[in-house]
Amino acid sequence: MTTLLAIDQGTTSTRAIVFGRGGEKQAVAQRELPQHFPRPGWVEHDAERIWEDTVACVRDALQQAGLKAGDIAAIGITNQRETTVIWDRATGKPIHRAIVWQDRRTSAFCQQHQDRSDWLAQRSGLLLDPYFSATKVGWILDHVEGARARAEKGELAFGTIDSWLLWQLTGGKVHVTDATNASRTALFNLGTQDWDGELLDFFGVPRALLPQVLDTADDFGSTVPELFGGAITIGGVAGDQQAATIGQACFAPGMIKSTYGTGCFMVLNTGDELKLSKHRLLSTVAYRLGGKPTYALEGSIFVAGAAVQWLRDAMHLIKAAGETERLARSIEDTQGVYLVPAFTGLGAPYWDPEARGAVFGLTRDTGIAHIVRAALESVGYQTRDLMRAMEQDACAPTELRVDGGMVVNDWLTQCLADILQIPTVRPQTVETTALGAAFVAGLQAGVYDSLDDIAKLWQAERRFTPAMPQTRADELYAGWQDAVSRVRSG
Ligand code: G3P
Repeated sequence: MTTLLAIDQGTTSTRAIVFGRGGEKQAVAQRELPQHFPRPGWVEHDAERIWEDTVACVRDALQQAGLKAGDIAAIGITNQRETTVIWDRATGKPIHRAIVWQDRRTSAFCQQHQDRSDWLAQRSGLLLDPYFSATKVGWILDHVEGARARAEKGELAFGTIDSWLLWQLTGGKVHVTDATNASRTALFNLGTQDWDGELLDFFGVPRALLPQVLDTADDFGSTVPELFGGAITIGGVAGDQQAATIGQACFAPGMIKSTYGTGCFMVLNTGDELKLSKHRLLSTVAYRLGGKPTYALEGSIFVAGAAVQWLRDAMHLIKAAGETERLARSIEDTQGVYLVPAFTGLGAPYWDPEARGAVFGLTRDTGIAHIVRAALESVGYQTRDLMRAMEQDACAPTELRVDGGMVVNDWLTQCLADILQIPTVRPQTVETTALGAAFVAGLQAGVYDSLDDIAKLWQAERRFTPAMPQTRADELYAGWQDAVSRVRSG
């Protein structure tokens, strides 16, 4: 039995994908996830809806592939990270909507305690920013009546989306997470690989809320038989960016990938060395196997594909994301128009939760194509911001493996190569996030013997080499830096 099933619970959709041993896709089921914006800067999800969609997608994918529960070697779960759920252990019901990673409601707390940022980085590898789970947990405990007292008594459970799904899939039998997801909470000590008492005290999070932390490939229990007509073992869990790193087979120190989904996340494998950034990147767990962590440096940008969604849903400049490629190609350049998509503040390397988006350089000639092209170029410029920080902290990458929904756009993938001035490489499977989850589950189930075994399956589909002169790329990037300096809050 070598067929694997990945559950990929992302920010805007939930999916289940059936993969064969070689990574070939056999079935895909997907459901869009509604976003709730109760106030400016706040973003919430309905955790119960996430669970219902997960069950529906798994059933649908099995049916499409003509498979039964017993045909699946193992399930792997990958998920939007940091998003915070607190539920009642007795009823399994959430006590509040999930607070999503993009949510900025705790920015005042983070601003107030900036003096603790270095201390936090040394322990957790992260910065003091509303992005991470810790302040979101504190907010729920302080705003839902009686929650703090119930948490102290052990009546409530906290989890990122992986834990929430594991709890539900196993009928409340397991309350666990994996080291990659734990490393995004700001409560986990990267050195000791365990929850950190001082971090828990600082954020006011009772230990009784927390899940047990397992390896990325581990025994996560099995699904309740009634759900899918038979029990299926869950063998792997990884946060989505770490799963994409695995799906891109970035297993050697120095290998780097960038995923373009809602946001953009660049991850550099730093091996068994825990490197702390001097340029405001994050240190994180890439994966933990056999109790041994492999670390990474990560640059996180909050808005990449979300800028295209904004062009479509808020501005109505396009009807479908696919139109952006034709529009970008229809003009020579943006004629000096820059779009800074700081809709939910700026992530790495700026970390400015109060910055807001802007468009600069408008003239009477500016049309839809210029704005659309400026939105796509902003993804390239933000990637260059991250690449610079990576170079200064670790090493200068010679090529970048790219994946995610946006890189099906050839123009964008070429634009990335031009702005970065290094080749970008697109793999055969751009579903690397789901594939990475399937790979780790397969590692646990014995479908693969080792990471080397998995690395042999990775194949490039197309390599984009820089076609723009370095001087032009530098000139355009200087314009971006100027635009960013104008939206910063400080
Ligand atoms: O850190 C947030 C990230 O995990 C969300 O990824 O793919 O849902 O945009 P995505």
